This record gives sequence, C-alpha cells and structure tokens, in this order.
Amino acid sequence: MRILGIESSADETSAAVVEDGKNLLSNIVASSLKLHEVYGGIVPEIAARSHLEVIIPTIEKALADAGTNWQDIDAIAVTKGPGLIGSLLIGVLTARTLAISKNKPLYAVNHVEAHVYANFITETKLQNYQLPKHQPQFPCLALIVSGGHSQLVLFKNHGDYQILGQTRDDAVGEAYDKVAKMLGFPYPGGPSIEKAARLGNPQAINLPQAKLDGEYEFSFSGLKTAVLRAAQALIGEDYTFPSSKLPERLNEAQKADIAASFERAALLALVDATAKATIRLNPKSIVIAGGVAASGGLRRELEDKLPLAPTYTDMKLCTDNAAMIASLAYYRHSMDTPADTYSLSPEPNLAM
Ligand code: KG4
Ligand code: ZN
Repeated sequence: MRILGIESSADETSAAVVEDGKNLLSNIVASSLKLHEVYGGIVPEIAARSHLEVIIPTIEKALADAGTNWQDIDAIAVTKGPGLIGSLLIGVLTARTLAISKNKPLYAVNHVEAHVYANFITETKLQNYQLPKHQPQFPCLALIVSGGHSQLVLFKNHGDYQILGQTRDDAVGEAYDKVAKMLGFPYPGGPSIEKAARLGNPQAINLPQAKLDGEYEFSFSGLKTAVLRAAQALIGEDYTFPSSKLPERLNEAQKADIAASFERAALLALVDATAKATIRLNPKSIVIAGGVAASGGLRRELEDKLPLAPTYTDMKLCTDNAAMIASLAYYRHSMDTPADTYSLSPEPNLAM
C-alpha cells in the first residue's frame, strides 16, 4: 500500500511517499526557516504563505522522486494537528482537494504521534538515510521531544497508548530555542546550542532540576529563567538586565559554558524520566522521536543510562517530515475510518 503523506504544521512543507508504512520511496521537505530567522521564531503568517507557494511543487516532486504516478497511490495522509492554524489549513485543504479530485481515501493523523512512526521506517533506496535496522517492538516506550512537545508515552500496540507524563510548561525544544536566543544563536536553537556546548564546561553553572509530583513529568520554564539569571550574573548585572542585550556582553567562552550547562540540565531531566520508566515498565523497545531526538548528547546519554539501546532515526526524519505522517496512516488505516473529504478541518490543539 502506497501512501502520500502531507505535512504542514509549522514551517516545513513536506510530502513523502511510503510503502507499507516502512519503505521510504521519497521525502521532500521545503522549509521557510530562512524567512523566520531574523525574528528568532516562526512567524505564522509568513509560514502559511510559504506553504501555499510551495505545497504543490513539493507534492509533485515527492511523486516524481518515488517514480510514482497517481494511479499507484492508494491513499493520502495529512497532519490534522497540533500546529499553527494557518499552516495546518494549507495542508488539510490541499489534501482534501487532491483526495476528491484523484478519488483517494484520506487519513488525518496526529503530528506528535506521527513523530514516533518515523522509527518504523526501516527501508529505503534513497541516498543518505541512516535508518534503524529493526522496527520497534511493543510494548514500546517513546520519548517524544520537539519544539512543541515533551512527553513519555507507552505504546502497547498501534493506536493503543498511554501518556505517562508530559511537560507542565515549555517543551524542551522551546527551551533550547529560547536559550539560543539569549546567546544570540540562530533559530532553531538545538543545533547551535549543541555545537557551542562542545566547547564549554557542562559543570560551569549549577542549574536546578525541576521538582515535580508526577514521576514522568517535565518542566523547562524554570530552567530557562535560571539560565537567564546565571547569564546576567556572569556579566555582573542583576535581574533587570534585558536578555536581548546578553549576546553582545557575553564572550564566546561564557556562551559555550552556558550552552553546555543548559544542555546537561535539560538532558538530565529527559534521561532520568526515561530511565525510571524503563525500569518500571520493562518495554521491549525504547524510541526517541521529534526534533530534539537529533541531539547527539541525548542519544549518547540514553545509550549510557538505559539497559536497552534506544532506537532513533536519521536526523531528516527526526525533524518535521511527511514520511512519518504516511507511516502512521498505514498502521492506523485498518482501525480508522477515512476522513470526510468535504469537512475535515485542522485542529491546532489536537491532543494525543
Ligand atoms: O519536531 P520538530 O522539527 O518540530 C516540532 O514539531 O516542534 O522539532 C524542532 C525542535 C526545535 O526546538 C529545535 O531547536 C530542536 O527540535 N532541535 C534540537 C536539535 N535539532 C533540532 N534540539 C537539540 N539538539 C539538536 N541537535
Ligand atoms: Zn514536529
């Protein structure tokens, strides 16, 4: 079964063709990132306009790269939410129109759940994809960490899962992005924090771990504030000093130390909760999913601390992509009824 996936929840417009949920035939990702960089975060209106401009060529390229024409496509899958309303609308309306005009069933999927399914893609003839050798087995513990989400989920089977815990406030990727902004690094912050952290001392600044009632819960908002206070103190200023002026006052060594200390504290929280859940629940597989799963530090720490090697996939499938949308739709299509092509609407706050 060949599914065309369409993803447009944030700043990436993506289309992909995946066969039987595991064989990646094509994956095209067009990002409007460059247009947002000067603002230090995604500007929703710019993202939506950019989706509109590139979505059709992106889909055409995904079909061409897969060596497929419309007759070979069995279904269309699209991200229904969560995400930015204007961005989601472009993907959903395009998918609805194509499903009607090409007479294909349409499946609407949850973006956060789909991140986990990037790890079910194990085959491709495409160049430059480092894929996991085996699919995850159930019960499967998933650490989903992105710019919008931080949660630990136990999958008992496809479509049968339990959320063990999630963030009370900021997502971990959001904390990376905000700390990067304080240091004057470009958006998104993850890759630049990781790069700077390699030159810094992770013990330089003592940052607190959030104390929470729930064993598998996270909180990253306090950590972000603690980083701000530490940065102000490093340059001899008090809490009234504006964060926007920090990049010009901190030197490179101080920035590296802040990045390294922040990364250590953020990863510690994720690794501790994942290790605790692993011991308690004894999963057969552990997967890391979402943009922050691209973090080399997170991968190494989890490998060190867990009794079971975690599964993660190619960086290109960790950040937003349509291949994961097509894969999830394949594993869910037998339990879900196809969406109504005349009424499907996006759900910006869709929960798992
Ligand atoms: O999954 P994703 O592409 O978009 C969302 O659905 O949010 O995740 C983007 C997030 C950003 O916050 C970015 O800073 C983070 O993933 N990220 C990283 C790394 N690469 C991307 N965080 C830590 N280390 C990285 N190497
Ligand atoms: Zn995402």
